[in-house]
Amino acid sequence: MPVEYISLNNNNKIPNVGLGLWKLNPESNVDTIYNAIKIGYRVLDGAVDYGNTKELGIAVKKAIKDKLVTREELFIVSKLWNNHHAPKNVKPAIEKILKDLDLDYIDLIYIHFPLPFKAVDVNDKDHYPPGFFTPNQLQKGQENVIELENVPLHKTWESLEELYDPKNGIIRNLGLSNCQGVLIQDLLFGCKIKPQILQIEIHPYLPQWRLVEWCHLHDIAVTAYSSFGSQSFIELESAKAKSCVNLLEHQLIKEIASKYEGAGNSDVLLQWAVQRKICVIPKSNNVKRLETNFHFTNKFPNGLSKEDVDKIATLENGTRFNDPWDWNDMKFPTFI
Ligand SMILES: NC(=O)c1ccc[n+]([C@@H]2O[C@H](COP(=O)([O-])OP(=O)(O)OC[C@H]3O[C@@H](n4cnc5c(N)ncnc54)[C@H](OP(=O)(O)O)[C@@H]3O)[C@@H](O)[C@H]2O)c1
Repeated sequence: MPVEYISLNNNNKIPNVGLGLWKLNPESNVDTIYNAIKIGYRVLDGAVDYGNTKELGIAVKKAIKDKLVTREELFIVSKLWNNHHAPKNVKPAIEKILKDLDLDYIDLIYIHFPLPFKAVDVNDKDHYPPGFFTPNQLQKGQENVIELENVPLHKTWESLEELYDPKNGIIRNLGLSNCQGVLIQDLLFGCKIKPQILQIEIHPYLPQWRLVEWCHLHDIAVTAYSSFGSQSFIELESAKAKSCVNLLEHQLIKEIASKYEGAGNSDVLLQWAVQRKICVIPKSNNVKRLETNFHFTNKFPNGLSKEDVDKIATLENGTRFNDPWDWNDMKFPTFI
């Protein structure tokens, strides 16, 4: 499949299909990323929180050494984790990502969540990459409360802007993740550099019509995560995920898939997103599924029909699988 690109508002571009790195099997993640590059994936969607930044760097180095790809062809992504929002912590956090990757620039940094947690030092080997708690809390067994610190989002953004340049910066593109419209609009009122891209949960249960439309109106690209809906969260024993019909097995999606030669539910779910000019980043530990997820557009030479798109729209029910409201029952107001 030829790589298709989405243009960004700074004249850079991003391939519209990538590999998600969350929950890659730690025993095989280097091979999985290497195989994905071999298949043709160019966007590698990592994050500090996924705990595999070093492995991403190793796989990329090996792929470049083996001449599968050049550095310029790759689009390497990471995300600033919640413990590094304070302006003084942003540059060290980005430098640490680059050191772990063993690269001198990164193609895209997202702010992972608009939630500033209490800081954790990037040099604290025992507690990096950080999770939800500070070392102090962990020592005292105080893991019932996630502590925030008072950092407005625009302060974190300003610190990232200082590291950004679309051609020569150590960060080439900037993004937000898990933000709603009004928060992004507020940032636009004061920022020097407009976000290039927003990454949010999108699948037929949660199509996010208005947020996607608003971003596109404002020339902000959109990446969908968890395109397969509950599947990713079943692995985490989420009761919500287990209680709903898995989109990968959903009868309506199956019926639609049967109309397109060789297509399955996963193909329909990915095609549905890219047809909306949304990038997708499916994750798989399995080489066969990596292949399938990269070549899905071949099964839809004319796209999904309007009739089928309308049928998929009937599945919308607002189910969101990734919501900080539920983290330790902290009731964080991210999506209310
Ligand atoms: N910004 C954020 O807050 C955020 C949140 C969540 C995710 N993300 C990003 O988005 C990426 C994708 O989301 P995700 O990992 O949550 O979920 P996903 O890609 O929607 O689903 C992954 C799940 O689907 C399975 N799978 C993959 N391809 C399949 C296929 N063709 N047929 C059947 N099953 C298949 C995988 O199992 P196998 O591995 O066994 O194939 C895994 O259980 C992440 O890896 C991460 O990079 C970002």
